[in-house]
Amino acid sequence: MTDTLTITQPDDWHLHLRDGAYMAAVVNNSARCFGRALVMPNLADPIRTVADAAKYRERIMRALPPKSTFEPLMTLYLTAETPASEVDVALKSGFVLAVKLFPAGATTLSDSGLQSWREAIPVLESMQKSGMVLSIHGEVTDPEVDIFDREKVFIDRVLTKLVDAFPGLRIVLEHLSTKEAVSFVEAAGENVAGTITAHHLLLNRNDLLVGGIKPHFYCLPIVKTEQDRQALLKAATSGNSKFFLGTDSAPHPRSEKEAAIGKAGIYSAGHAISLYADLFDSAGELDKLEGFASFYGADFYRLPRNTTKVTLEKSNSEVIPAVLDYHDQELIPLKGGETVNWKG
Ligand code: DOR
Ligand code: ZN
Repeated sequence: MTDTLTITQPDDWHLHLRDGAYMAAVVNNSARCFGRALVMPNLADPIRTVADAAKYRERIMRALPPKSTFEPLMTLYLTAETPASEVDVALKSGFVLAVKLFPAGATTLSDSGLQSWREAIPVLESMQKSGMVLSIHGEVTDPEVDIFDREKVFIDRVLTKLVDAFPGLRIVLEHLSTKEAVSFVEAAGENVAGTITAHHLLLNRNDLLVGGIKPHFYCLPIVKTEQDRQALLKAATSGNSKFFLGTDSAPHPRSEKEAAIGKAGIYSAGHAISLYADLFDSAGELDKLEGFASFYGADFYRLPRNTTKVTLEKSNSEVIPAVLDYHDQELIPLKGGETVNWKG
């Protein structure tokens, strides 16, 4: 007999879709499984305004199959020029759920980000007042800080000060990658939560580097030690509603990953729920999957939980494709060519 697990339809609270034909090539991989996704704004021409977000959202919807009920939720890219008044426009739109802070230069397409959050004080004040969520890429860019320490130094040098200055600001620290980030979120108030990717739950830095460098395991924040991975797994499977699912699935063409200077980003959207289910199952915490994947993110973003259900099947035979078509390129999914036990 095959095992099955029926859960409320999950949502992905951190997703990169890109744009144009590349977006169209991947969006349905998310839409097949997830009810909603929070779409990141770091396009080549960033999504800075609600008007930009509305147009991008339209393009995404047009790329979906006619009967899809997938709902793209949008974010704005916070720059030193973002007017505080845009926060109210975002709130009224109903589809812009968060403003994303990229420290300038921290990651892919982050050049328009902030040198310091102090450049955005009026915007942050307005967000604190209205309850709009600040989504944060939590890494410093100081060249003197070791790449493996950039998240914890961000927490010490930047995030603690930001939280002190805006104690009521609602914050999601994205793609947690260290035990320090887990502890920070646990100790913070109810207004602070964190997303956890499948790849940070699956991989440590030995996976990335031992036996040859694996460019398809390279992302930012970079994967850390086994101890960090264990702390993330414990947090994700704990049933603590401060931690919820955000894949940070970030497609890059194979040719740009397998290069002398390889791009940062791991593509996991198509089999994400299978990967999470396998991880929760191995940890003996499968009953915690639904909260993490389907409840806590919606609750934090103050949206209704999905009402549709999905049934996962433990077939032990679902193989993730080794290569995906990516418009005129190829895309290598996380764990491509490998078998997952749970089929989404
Ligand atoms: O690895 C990453 N890729 N981390 C990010 O923060 C951005 C993302 C991307 O857009 O490719
Ligand atoms: Zn991201």
